[in-house]
Amino acid sequence: MDSLALSCLILLSLPLLPFLSAANIPLGSTLSSTSNNSSWISPSRDFAFGFRQLNNNSDLFLLAIWFNKIPERTIIWHANEDNHPVLAPRGSTLELTATGLQLKDPGGQAIWDEKPNKIVSDAATLDTGNFVLIASGNNSDYAWQSFKSPTDTILPTQILDLGSVLVSRLTETNFSKGRFELHFSNGSLLLIPVAWPTPFQYKSYYTSDTYSANSFESGHQLVFNESADIYIKKNNGQIVQLPQWNRLSPIADHYFRATLDFDGVFTEYAYPKNSAPNQSWFTIRRLPNNICTAISDEFGSGACGFNSYCLLQNGRPFCECPPGYLFVDPTNIFSGCKPNYSQGCGPDDGSRNAEELYEMRELANVNWPFGDYERLEPYDQTECETSCLHDCLCAVAIYNNARQCWKKRFPLSLGTYDNAGTGFTKALIKVRKGGFPVDFDGNTCGKKGIPILLGALLLGSSVFFNGLLLLAISLLVFVWRKRKDGKKVQRSSISETNLRFFSLAELNEATNGFEDELGRGSFGIVYKGVLKSASGNAVAVKKLDKLAQEREREFKTEVSAIGRTHHKNLVQLLGFCDEGLNRLLVYEFMGNGTLANLLFAIPRPDWSLRVRISLEIARGLLYLHEECNIPIIHCDIKPQNILLDQDFTAKISDFGLSKLLLSDQSRTRTVIRGTRGYVAPEWFKNVPVSAKVDVYSFGVVLLEIICCRRSVEMELEEERSAILTDWAYDCYVEGRLDVLVDNDKAAMADKSRVRKWLMTALWCVQEDPLKRPTTKMIVQILEGYLEVPSPPMPPLYSLQLTEN
Ligand SMILES: *[C@@H]1O[C@H](CO)[C@@H](O)[C@H](O)[C@H]1NC(C)=O
Ligand SMILES: *[C@@H]1O[C@H](CO)[C@@H](O)[C@H](O)[C@H]1NC(C)=O
Ligand SMILES: *[C@@H]1O[C@H](CO)[C@@H](O)[C@H](O)[C@H]1NC(C)=O
Ligand SMILES: *[C@@H]1O[C@H](CO)[C@@H](O)[C@H](O)[C@H]1NC(C)=O
Ligand SMILES: *[C@@H]1O[C@H](CO)[C@@H](O)[C@H](O)[C@H]1NC(C)=O
Ligand SMILES: *[C@@H]1O[C@H](CO)[C@@H](O)[C@H](O)[C@H]1NC(C)=O
Ligand SMILES: *[C@@H]1O[C@H](CO)[C@@H](O)[C@H](O)[C@H]1NC(C)=O
Ligand SMILES: *[C@@H]1O[C@H](CO)[C@@H](O)[C@H](O)[C@H]1NC(C)=O
Ligand SMILES: *[C@@H]1O[C@H](CO)[C@@H](O)[C@H](O)[C@H]1NC(C)=O
Repeated sequence: MDSLALSCLILLSLPLLPFLSAANIPLGSTLSSTSNNSSWISPSRDFAFGFRQLNNNSDLFLLAIWFNKIPERTIIWHANEDNHPVLAPRGSTLELTATGLQLKDPGGQAIWDEKPNKIVSDAATLDTGNFVLIASGNNSDYAWQSFKSPTDTILPTQILDLGSVLVSRLTETNFSKGRFELHFSNGSLLLIPVAWPTPFQYKSYYTSDTYSANSFESGHQLVFNESADIYIKKNNGQIVQLPQWNRLSPIADHYFRATLDFDGVFTEYAYPKNSAPNQSWFTIRRLPNNICTAISDEFGSGACGFNSYCLLQNGRPFCECPPGYLFVDPTNIFSGCKPNYSQGCGPDDGSRNAEELYEMRELANVNWPFGDYERLEPYDQTECETSCLHDCLCAVAIYNNARQCWKKRFPLSLGTYDNAGTGFTKALIKVRKGGFPVDFDGNTCGKKGIPILLGALLLGSSVFFNGLLLLAISLLVFVWRKRKDGKKVQRSSISETNLRFFSLAELNEATNGFEDELGRGSFGIVYKGVLKSASGNAVAVKKLDKLAQEREREFKTEVSAIGRTHHKNLVQLLGFCDEGLNRLLVYEFMGNGTLANLLFAIPRPDWSLRVRISLEIARGLLYLHEECNIPIIHCDIKPQNILLDQDFTAKISDFGLSKLLLSDQSRTRTVIRGTRGYVAPEWFKNVPVSAKVDVYSFGVVLLEIICCRRSVEMELEEERSAILTDWAYDCYVEGRLDVLVDNDKAAMADKSRVRKWLMTALWCVQEDPLKRPTTKMIVQILEGYLEVPSPPMPPLYSLQLTEN
């Protein structure tokens, strides 16, 4: 039986053997671009040569070589014609003949060919990743090889001779000719930006400096040797290491490649050869070390597009727009930025007061070194701001602590953010007022102030009426400014949210250099501060952790949505700071700390206070869930996120942040780790979450308020009493309310409420979200307008905790 099965297996695999074997590819062989598996694979199966679908939804195929054993199937070479990738429609065929390779479309028309000047006998995909056409009559003579016409990648054992060029892709996934080139043509390795789409070359941003007038001493080959070192070999045989190129400590059992990446960084990567899952390419070393500052030609935009600035993150360039600017192509951060308004010297701007139209925003440690048309000194910062504000040619001013004010015109180029900056140099950006946040559709929370109403009227009324309104607005604004402190008016944003824009320097001053730490929340550290400009108000300044990357651009939108919420049981957001990589939120200060501090302290707080706080939390939550047009799901309700003001009024904090700070993939893990014991079961199940996750967490918090104990108490011996929901259910079933409230006299005198609220909480922590009450029902129950039926047993939470 066994041997029969075995021979069946052998028979079955026989037809495949020629395909798998190490034998060279004979003349007359063809590949067709109809399926993914159409390829010629190297003997070790490490590399494959063949067709690759351009992207999963495309009928176009690339003729390419790729790493065949790793899940990414990373492409290291593709057929090019005049620097354009050769795109073969579905059904094209590649044929190997004595004259070389011919690629024909389904209609038989030639698309591409490779005709070496020697007769070809056969071909092979080698285990090095080199695809070779073997010359007739001499097995070690290659009529053509992919290693001698590289695209953007080189591999170990590959040697570039003088005259070689690598061209970067346009983007990670677009194989068209990109904006950077690597040249090894005159003894030196050069990295050069080009004036895309033309071939014009700017000044190089890296050189190995291995050229010598004495040809014997000059660089001759760029060698990527078997042990993954990359160096230059001179004509005299001497080996020269590349400057700035970190020394390589040998790594065994890895794949290697070096790629001129689309962002201009020449990077050597490694990938573990073992078959463990979740591997990826990692960087061994790169050139240049800081591309943001390395590119310095006065022409061209630099590493990022015009009007943007470059931030170095993990050695790679990352582009950002200044405040009030948007990416030209929102899907491509390298596309440059444009102001979200027209700025110029037109009649519109001339006839109005500059202060009414524009304001200056500060961006510390950002500079655009070129494009100056005026240098004013000695000037203080206010003079510099005013000068730019009133100058219709001025887009940005750079101010430094040498009291110099450099006025810049469009377009801004070579913008960089200095990671090691001290704040001595800052960009002052001229921004049209009211450009942010623009939102007249009204589908957000909270009351809208007068300015937005006027704004809406302005949109649809006559010129005359406009004039009247303008006058009215000016008056209003004037009065408003008079009432506030006049000094900082230029930088505060009078938007419908009344959110203020704070500079980092201002917050630094207010918090005394971020000295007094109030606490560490799920999203960052909170500091106490006192605003100098306002009436000495105490504030809490929350320094956010790094945003989920895809959220960075949503920051202002999200923050303005949070800013539009107004409820006495929500902590009020006063303003924010968005400078460089810093994202800070400024909240009203809450004098009595968190509910957690109150609840788990000795002696336990009064029952009547606990009753009031429960109701306040429920009302705050009801507002978030049902009284805004777009419901805000908190996702992290717990006693640490309920704050108490000087009158012990409970206010929910940190709402609206989970959306911003947790990227979709990471949120499950983060939340589970961060707030074990409060998370609804659906978080574990990867199903869409709704406001019912907050209902679940509220249920747990309500139990904690009733019992004055934490949801999970691991030090308790018995597992079932360690988990509050399990223990509370047991007490409920056994009618042991006295145990639950630890014989609290006031609570026992209010037994019917304790019982009813306990039942409510147990309904809230049901496994099925549909069984849980809505927030509205909760408020009605707690206020005594609705009765509660007997709750079923909640899920065994303890099991779920151990499973994960
Ligand atoms: C090609 O690959 C894709 C994804 O890798 C797969 O979904 C598809 O079925 C494959 N097509 C063929 C013909 O094998
Ligand atoms: C590709 O896969 C298809 C279907 O799985 C198979 O019929 C075909 O023979 C394969 N081609 C090669 C070259 O392996
Ligand atoms: C293509 O694949 C990517 C990821 O592999 C996926 O995100 C995208 O939705 C797919 N596109 C189409 C049109 O299937
Ligand atoms: C075969 O080709 C190799 C490499 O080009 C060359 O070194 C060698 O001399 C050739 N042998 C013959 C017999 O021509
Ligand atoms: C790649 O970019 C070029 C130039 O912008 C564009 O013409 C081409 O359509 C892009 N290709 C793909 C597959 O998106
Ligand atoms: C090669 O580079 C050197 C110095 O970088 C330069 O002086 C020389 O003119 C270059 N030669 C050619 C042919 O470009
Ligand atoms: C590669 O080059 C390094 C020196 O740069 C040398 O130490 C190493 O032995 C070389 N490896 C091979 C296989 O030649
Ligand atoms: C690999 O990644 C997937 C999804 O990111 C994850 O579910 C899986 O647990 C990971 N496996 C290992 C071994 O890390
Ligand atoms: C400015 O940006 C907002 C969204 O960010 C957009 O709705 C508005 O139309 C833009 N204004 C102009 C003048 O482009």
